[in-house]
Order: sequence, then C-alpha cells, then structure tokens
Amino acid sequence: MFHSRSTSFLKPGFCGLKIGLLSLMLVFLAACGSSGSDNTAPADDTPPTQDGGEDTGADDADTSGQGDDAGSTDTAGSDGDGSTTGTATGSDSGTDDTGNGSTDSGSSDPVSSEITADRVLDPLPNPPLTAAPGADSEPVRALGPVSNVTEFFVVRNPTRDLEDDYGILTDEDFAAGPLPAVYHIPEHVDTSTNSLPYFDNLTDVEVFAGEELTVIFKPLDDDGGIPGLFPNAIPAGARYVDNFNGTRSLIWRPLQPQVGIQEFTITATDPVEPYYRTERTIRIKVKMPSDPSGIVNIAPVVNEIWPRTVRVNDFVTLYIKVSDANGTIPSLEIANPPAGATIVPHYSEEAISILRFVPQTAEAIDLELTARDAEDTSLSTSRTVTLEVLEDSDFIRPGSRLRELAASRDLLIGYAALQGFYEQPDGALYADIAAEEFNFVTTENSLKWDLVNPLPGKYRWAQADNLVQHAKTRRQAVHGHTLVWHRQLPGWIKRSALDEREGHMREFIDRVITRYGDDIPIWDVVNEALEEDGSFRQSTWYEAMGADFIDIAFRQARLSAPEAVLLYNEYDVSFAGPKSDGLIALMTALTDAGTPVDGVGFQMHLDADFDRYEEVAATFGKIAALDLDIYITELDVSIRSGMSEEQQAEVYEEVLSLCLDQPRCKAYQAWGFTDMYSWRREFNPLLLDRRYQPKPAYFAIQERLGQN
Ligand code: XIL
Repeated sequence: MFHSRSTSFLKPGFCGLKIGLLSLMLVFLAACGSSGSDNTAPADDTPPTQDGGEDTGADDADTSGQGDDAGSTDTAGSDGDGSTTGTATGSDSGTDDTGNGSTDSGSSDPVSSEITADRVLDPLPNPPLTAAPGADSEPVRALGPVSNVTEFFVVRNPTRDLEDDYGILTDEDFAAGPLPAVYHIPEHVDTSTNSLPYFDNLTDVEVFAGEELTVIFKPLDDDGGIPGLFPNAIPAGARYVDNFNGTRSLIWRPLQPQVGIQEFTITATDPVEPYYRTERTIRIKVKMPSDPSGIVNIAPVVNEIWPRTVRVNDFVTLYIKVSDANGTIPSLEIANPPAGATIVPHYSEEAISILRFVPQTAEAIDLELTARDAEDTSLSTSRTVTLEVLEDSDFIRPGSRLRELAASRDLLIGYAALQGFYEQPDGALYADIAAEEFNFVTTENSLKWDLVNPLPGKYRWAQADNLVQHAKTRRQAVHGHTLVWHRQLPGWIKRSALDEREGHMREFIDRVITRYGDDIPIWDVVNEALEEDGSFRQSTWYEAMGADFIDIAFRQARLSAPEAVLLYNEYDVSFAGPKSDGLIALMTALTDAGTPVDGVGFQMHLDADFDRYEEVAATFGKIAALDLDIYITELDVSIRSGMSEEQQAEVYEEVLSLCLDQPRCKAYQAWGFTDMYSWRREFNPLLLDRRYQPKPAYFAIQERLGQN
C-alpha cells in the first residue's frame, strides 16, 4: 500500500468510483448503496481470521459477552449485517485465509493512497446532523436491588429498548419486487470464459404464520459444474438442508413474532473460483392467518444461564429470562429459592425477573426454574442453574497483585470490562478482583456505537458511566474503545448518506469524548481500518471518505480532547506479514500528514502455540522509530486443541517481556481477565479460570513483573 503517495486519493462520491477503488474484488451493485445490506462485508463460509474482530461470529449477536441473555439487560442490538456465520475457530499463525474473498492479493494492483496532509477541519455541522444528547438520554439512578456493586450508585438507561426500525421492511418494500443480485467478481477471473453462477427460479414468497414454508435453492452455472451454496444467516427455528442433488432447501415455520417482511440471503459460488459469486436476497412475507388459533403453541423456555461461582456474603443477582417462540410472555416458577431471596421484576422487560440473595455458607445451589406458557398452562419446560458458593479464602491469590508490580514500572496493566458486569451473579467478585489486579480498564462493548447511539439523537450511556464510576473508585485509568470502527454500527449509520457520514462520525467522536472528558484519557480513535493484505478495508467509513476518514477522525478527537492519548488499534499486525507492513505504511503516512496520532494499539488475540516474538519486537521497534507509543490493548491467548495452559503462560510472559523491553510500550492489557466472560470463552484464553482461580499465565506474568 501507499506505494505512490503522490497519487491523489479518490473520494468515492458515487458508485462508479467505488468500483474503481477496489483492488481485490469488484463488487457490482445493481442498486449501489441503497439496498440496505452491508455490501462492504460480504458473507462468507470460509474460516475466520485468527486474531481479530472479524467474522468470528462471537461478536455482534452478544455484545454483553454474557452468553445467557437474561443478564443482558441493556445490550446493543445486533449489528444487523448478518454476515457472520462461523464461530471463533480461527487458526494460529497469521497465515489463515481471511474469509473475505481476498484470495488474490498478490495479483492485483496495490491500493495507492494518500492521506491529505495538514488538513484543517471545518467546524462541526451546524445545525448538527442529529440532535445532541439531551436530558431524555441521561441515565437514571437504578432503584431497587438490581446491582451487586456496593461502592457507587448504579445508573441505568432511561428506556430499555430503542427500537431500530430502520431495517424494518414494509408491504411497499415487498410489493416493489425482488432485490437485484449482488455479484462478487475477483479481478483475476476472466468473465469471458467463466460465467457467473446464478439461481434458477428464485422468487419472493408469502406464507402464513404457523404454516411450513419450503424454498428450494437451485444454483446453476452455464460452464457446467454445480455451484456451492451458503446462507448468510438462518432464521430462528428454521432448517437449511442439503437435498443431495445440487439444491438446498430452507424449511421454516414462522410464528407470530415473525409476521412482517423477512429477508433471507444466499450466495452461490462458482464451481472453479470459489470467490466468484452471486448473492441473492429473497423476501418472505409472513402473514397472520384469519384464524390464529391453528398456529402451533410451542412450549416456553427459561433462557440459558451459565453456572457461576460466587462468594459467600456477596449480593448475588440472577437475571432470569423466559421466552416463548409464539411471542407471549411465560410465567416463571422458582421451585427452591434460596433463603432470604427476593424476586424483583425488571424495570422494563417483562420477561426478566431478578432473583437476589446473599449466600451465607459455602455450598452448591441448584436452582430449579420453570417457564410456563401464558395460554396453555400445561405447557412448560424447566432448567437447573448451578451456583457454586465459595469462601472468601478460596479467592486469595498468593503473591503481589499485578497492579502493584506494574506500578513500580510505570506500566499500565489492564483488562477489558464486561458490559454490565455489576448485574451478573458474580459481579461483586468480578469487580473486586478486577480492582485488585489492574490499574487500567477498557470498555469491552460499553462504548460501541450501536450501543451508545442506536438511533439518531438517542444515547445510552449507562454502561459506560457505571464503568467509569467503578474505575474512579478503584483508581483505574480508563481506555475508551472504540470511536470509529466498521462493526457494531447501528443501522442508521450504515445506511446514512455518503456525503453526511463524515459529519456523523465527527459528531459522534465529539459527543462521546466530551461526555467523559478527563475520565477517559486514552482513546482508540480508529479500529481495524486495514485488510489482511495491508490495503484499506472497504468499510462504511472508507466508502464515504477514503483513507482520509482516519485523519479526520484523529483530528476531531484531538479537537475534542486536546490532552488525550489517541490510538490507532488493529489486529494481526504485531507479527510480520503484509498487514503489519500495511500498518507501518499507514502510521508513516499519518505522521507525515501531521495526523494527531499518539500510538498504536496492538490487539494481539493469539493462540497458545504463538512463537513469533522476534517479529513482534521488530514491529514494536518500527512503531517506536515513528515516535509513537505502543499499547497492547486486547491480549488473549486461546488454548486450542492440543495446546496447554503452560504454553499459554509462556505466550503471556513473552509478550510481557517484549513490552517491558520496549520503552515505548505503555500498557499491557488483556481482553478480559476471567475465562467466564471471554469473547473466546471456549478457548479459555485469560489469566483466571471460570471460577476466578489463577492459571499458570497469571503466575507467569506475576513473576515476570517482579523480576528486574
Ligand atoms: C468483541 C467483544 O469482546 C465481544 O463481546 C463483542 O461481541 C464483539 O466485539 N477486536 C475489537 C473488539 O476491537 O472490539 C472486539 O470485541 C474483539 C476484536
């Protein structure tokens, strides 16, 4: 990238220019920018990347990180792009395919680009593009026993749900007819000899709630062969089956909550060139039958609640959510509530009850919970939830606390805080251990755009406010994550007019930064702007401003927070490779352009067999040579099949050593601290296990911090 910095950078103001900019893949959009789908992030069925925020499937659906959505009282809505299909099964060494269609990086022209130098920002839009946060967005004091943190008063958002109806389709949308196909054509494919796969006889369909619908997908290719097929996302309760004759079927019985217009997106891949693709979205109109009594009544459920380990004498709050596929709200029965327990309704969600009690003795509690159907009381299902109560002394970690050891070295040692940790059953324990061990904390999800500003002019600050308050009482510096990213964006931003996006971006940066002022002295201003090959990611931001969005974002952040540390945060760039080269080129271009960037945040989501330390040291050296600071922002070390906790410990220790050996390395931060709440929970990638017991990795960094 950046080979030719004198080439003026094209600002794609309309569809045609955008096509000209794509170096790896041409995306012809029949209805450019107006379809409402996220064309910049094509769905894929290939493995996710190994170290990053991308396509892990672990992300947007569960921004609470809690797994059981009973506890997620204020989670962000889904990102809505439905483009993640995998789970966090990424591999280890930075050589994986990215699953974004970029298989031919070597064969295409580099994206030549230029960051405009010495830009002077215009004033912020006046009048503002969207209303500034007002009193109706201010959090309110959470009354009643809903939180288990005792050091400060928890606040909550003024209303629970701000419905994002931007994506809701109407009968008029349906009547407008089928959506055009979207084609993905890698540059190296010769379209005169290889024709695109297509679908035979695919139309929009109508069905009554309660009836079973079958849609058959038959992909064809005029060159012969049978195209591959994969769906973007499968509706809840539906089946997607292989008919073993080249076709696949979607079999779905939609129920009352699905009445309306639904979409289903499917991609056909060329038999020879798997990234040569045709994507179709069909619309399914689900209608209410005139006699709804025939709709099958499904038994309700108590949503999954993970087993937890809690501490004797702490407040334990358990958010229990019941749900019913038919859309009614079941009643909840607790067969054996603990002594002294109270049950409080949730302040706005009828389906959630909050059980609160203080366990007095160490024991295992098996709570028997039953959800009973609102209409047919003979229909019910039960679930057992296990809480392990341990003594105070079971949580004593030998040796010195990490923050004490780090402070004497002037090192920030941190963790990413689970959004709404104070509402978890083990929230008191979580809060105490986090405060004992760390002097630095980042907002794992609490400041992401879709959560903070889900609708124009509407803000939800409570989670971040509570975290900041917690950090203050425990003398932790807060790292704000993240202002400008292509994921976890609300629908209204993804669908905003291209020529207004710069204004939206700047308003958001300004509003978020100024709300927190000195309470958040370090910010990830831009996150993940690069592709695996080191070129710019074709994102919501890039398509509106080109690479200049990065410069503009930093300049706005500097205007709004003259004293703050401003970081560019990225994954898979610490070890050598085209993406790391891309990072160095980007940081060079930014510093040359006078962009007010202070440092780089290295995510470092690694696996336990990682060993490319020399490459990391070299990358850190290059960043330091650019007079930039280094923050390790999201370290975690996944234990995948065949790997051990000892290997994990070694990676944590080696990365710490690299940081200690590099004077510009200011922070060593993990993406969480207990495996209970890791975004890669199944790979137990953190310092403490799910029962808050220290693992070899904890002792390894404790020992390393104690050495000279
Ligand atoms: C992740 C959170 O940990 C998840 O809870 C959420 O569902 C998705 O995002 N890179 C980033 C982080 O910059 O924001 C991502 O956090 C992990 C990858």
